[in-house]
Amino acid sequence: MTASCGAEPPHLRVNGQPHALDGVPRAATLLHFLRNDLGLNGPKYGCGLGQCGACTVHVDGVAARACVIPAHGVAGRSVTTLEGLGERGNWHPVQAAFEDAQAAQCGYCLNGMVMQAAALLARDPQASEARIRSELSGNLCRCGTHIEILDAVQRAAVRMRAETSP
Ligand code: FES
Ligand code: FES
Repeated sequence: MTASCGAEPPHLRVNGQPHALDGVPRAATLLHFLRNDLGLNGPKYGCGLGQCGACTVHVDGVAARACVIPAHGVAGRSVTTLEGLGERGNWHPVQAAFEDAQAAQCGYCLNGMVMQAAALLARDPQASEARIRSELSGNLCRCGTHIEILDAVQRAAVRMRAETSP
């Protein structure tokens, strides 16, 4: 006779929904799980080495690189992807600001830029230009739209401060 250990099967929450990790290989990255198992293509595969930021998601509200995190490594935690940040007609202020500033060319880096900026402004809505530049310095843009991206994040900061001020 075998006794049940009573442990819950591993799962994580993605954009508010629980997802079981049963059957997910131990070596699978969070990025692979999100894109291939859940069909969430907001996070992009760029370098696969944690160096470009294209795959950025939030783990418990903190920006993290999904290409170098094992899916099982975030069991029990809450993951937000670009799809969970906002939606058409109800964009997150950072998404709206990127649209207003037309801060994209190819757009491949934008997931990472938006997710990194949103995490920064959530914890520091007063972030200075220097702070924003520093925060985004690890997110690479091959098209060179850095000026427009900086403009977008500053617009978002203004919008978020206005929304939270009494
Ligand atoms: S794809 Fe993850 S940091 Fe480049
Ligand atoms: S807009 Fe093309 S990589 Fe940034």
